[in-house]
Amino acid sequence: MLKNIKPSMPDPIMSLMEAYQQDAHPNKVNLGIGLYYDHQGNIPLMQAVHIAEQRLLEQQRPHAYPPIEGSALFANQIQTLLFGEPIPRIATIQSIGGSGALKLGADFIYHYLSRREIWLPDPTWANHQAIFEGAGLQVNSYPYFDDLSGQLRFEAMLDTLSSLPEGSVVLLHPCCHNPTGTDLDPSQWRTLIHRLQQRRLLPFFDIAYQGFGDGLEEDCFALREILKTDLGFLVSNSFSKNMALYGQRVGGLSVCCDSVESAGRVKGALKTLVRRSYSCPPTHGSQVVETLLSDPQLHQLWESELTSMRQRIKQMRITLAAGLEQGGSTLDYARISHQKGMFSYTGLNEQQVNQLRQQYSIYLVSPGRMCLPGLNLQNVDYVAQAILDVTCPK
Ligand code: LMR
Repeated sequence: MLKNIKPSMPDPIMSLMEAYQQDAHPNKVNLGIGLYYDHQGNIPLMQAVHIAEQRLLEQQRPHAYPPIEGSALFANQIQTLLFGEPIPRIATIQSIGGSGALKLGADFIYHYLSRREIWLPDPTWANHQAIFEGAGLQVNSYPYFDDLSGQLRFEAMLDTLSSLPEGSVVLLHPCCHNPTGTDLDPSQWRTLIHRLQQRRLLPFFDIAYQGFGDGLEEDCFALREILKTDLGFLVSNSFSKNMALYGQRVGGLSVCCDSVESAGRVKGALKTLVRRSYSCPPTHGSQVVETLLSDPQLHQLWESELTSMRQRIKQMRITLAAGLEQGGSTLDYARISHQKGMFSYTGLNEQQVNQLRQQYSIYLVSPGRMCLPGLNLQNVDYVAQAILDVTCPK
């Protein structure tokens, strides 16, 4: 049986990171996977995280089993970050990163809500499709972004969502849309949420980059708005990026219900799903988050570190766009400076992305998704020149 297993397709994002690591080019640049690098090209250990970890080590806690759903304090802290305060009618549990929350949410939708389909934005993070299909859901898409004009397809998006049957599940990115870096503005969110409410759709918000758009609070605009309605919804959140806790796999799944009683039953369902798949979550990462968020000084330090990260990305956007402008680029470089979050959907096509990789060892996710934090003052001119070379060949 085992010898009949067919070869698997490599993951488009993770395999790129492996290829980058094996590349011996002295000027190689990793603009692929969504990782924050500092101005020296290193993945930072955030100071606030480091101090929280030291405190944990000093306490010499034993490694006991946590509750299936993770700690209650951690769940309250997630709700406070997302909604401004703990909300009793929301069931929140710890998850294995944001991806784990998406998988749990997908299983919940399939097994407890008997939904068999989901609608994803076109385009979206490549792994969304894999996660939801893997959970047995049929994956459909709704229009989101026009790569030619670099604009949101807001009217087309509304039209498609308006045509869906009641109870359809719709995945939304509240901020820092992956891969386009293009978000709805507050007035568009209000219009969209009104439409979701009219059509009685079930939104599933994936917020993996909170703090990388306009700020921790601002990035939750859509969540705070939908909370004012009577709609149920799901949220997956992650601390991979905003606390640089990638490998700790720490995140959460929240389900907003109509009452505290419903939330209790939903939490029971989520615990069943967790127990039968991995039993209970790991503890170190969530304890780091808990320690950090419980201490006002560490909280403040974390926020200021996150602000610097966001500003550095913005600076790199502006520097790259300026380099392209000065070189007379035919690329729509203006979009690079105004898109938000870690990514820019540059408009570079698959062939140009391949050329960048093969000739310059510059790695982007096809078609044209650039992870901006991979840029720094040492490599940004090299990248700008390479883009000029592949977009305006002499
Ligand atoms: C990305 O989109 O690059 C990140 O979310 C990392 C990942 O797991 O794909």
